[in-house]
Amino acid sequence: MFQEGSNVTHRIGIMGGDGIGPEVVAEGLKVIDALGIEYERIDYDLGGERYLKDGTVLPQEIIDEWRGIDALYAGAVGTPDVPPGLIERGLLLKMRFELDLYINYRPFLGARTDDGGVSHDFVVIRENTEGTYAGEGGLLRANTPHEIATQGSVNTRMGVERCVRYAFDLAMKRSKHVTLVHKTNVLTFSGDLWERTFNEVAAEYPEVETAYNHVDAACIYFVQDPQRYDVIVTDNLFGDILTDLGGAVSGGIGLAPTANLNPNGMSMFEPVHGSAPDIVGTGKANPIAAILSGAMMLDHLGESEAADRIRAACTEPETLTGTTSEIGDAVVARL
Ligand code: IPM
Ligand code: MN
Repeated sequence: MFQEGSNVTHRIGIMGGDGIGPEVVAEGLKVIDALGIEYERIDYDLGGERYLKDGTVLPQEIIDEWRGIDALYAGAVGTPDVPPGLIERGLLLKMRFELDLYINYRPFLGARTDDGGVSHDFVVIRENTEGTYAGEGGLLRANTPHEIATQGSVNTRMGVERCVRYAFDLAMKRSKHVTLVHKTNVLTFSGDLWERTFNEVAAEYPEVETAYNHVDAACIYFVQDPQRYDVIVTDNLFGDILTDLGGAVSGGIGLAPTANLNPNGMSMFEPVHGSAPDIVGTGKANPIAAILSGAMMLDHLGESEAADRIRAACTEPETLTGTTSEIGDAVVARL
């Protein structure tokens, strides 16, 4: 899906993270190992727990080391005792920005049907390095009656264009349909840039049919008529929100995988869901999102046949229920 095949041993960084992260990553690796994929494993102890231990968030040496590996396979990070934003900005977003993981690729298998099958699938391509996530803004006169908070949205022509182009290239390999989701009726500056860029790129892909939805309307369609979508392209924050909804309407957030891609370099694979500290150790965490993220990583590593086998196994009815490790075992049994 992402790269041509290769026969070198892959170098994979493993970052289980916090909460249920290590539990679901273990199941993903169980599945990858069962396929006989050979890789060099490099473990990284990072996340909220590590921060509480010794204050480490994401040292520059580790970022530099990551530039030299093939992929990073992650669980989830976040611990209740760490101030909000510290790990999110300091680890996850820093990684996305520094390694220029500019595509956040979130496929939704579609709703599982009663017979254990899966309905129509669709993909959200979320811009992953700009928008409100860029951190523009600040607090003036904090904690006074005159305090002011601003939080800007950064949209560069280059950043928007490469993301839109990725969506059109993907559409050419799928059913040749792309929907832009934005809020051009209110966000007239950034919306204008996105819309013009989208239309200009679209002109280079005459075979691809296009559509546009405001993000609020898209929320209704996600619930009532997701069949209208194939590839959706959108900005960072809209994509964040829409992909949680996408998970919720296609079997639950426990099934939704992510690829944070730098299409020419090291990329990072993780479930959409978080660390869910409330269910740690209960066996309730669904490892399917992590297992499917592992399949996307195999695509990136040129192991698409193995990736397809994982995806096929994950749609079997036997993988619908069970504890974390029972679901992992059920996927292995159906490879
Ligand atoms: C996601 C998460 C992250 C985001 C958070 C944890 C920073 O919600 O990957 O969707 O907002 O991108
Ligand atoms: Mn999110």
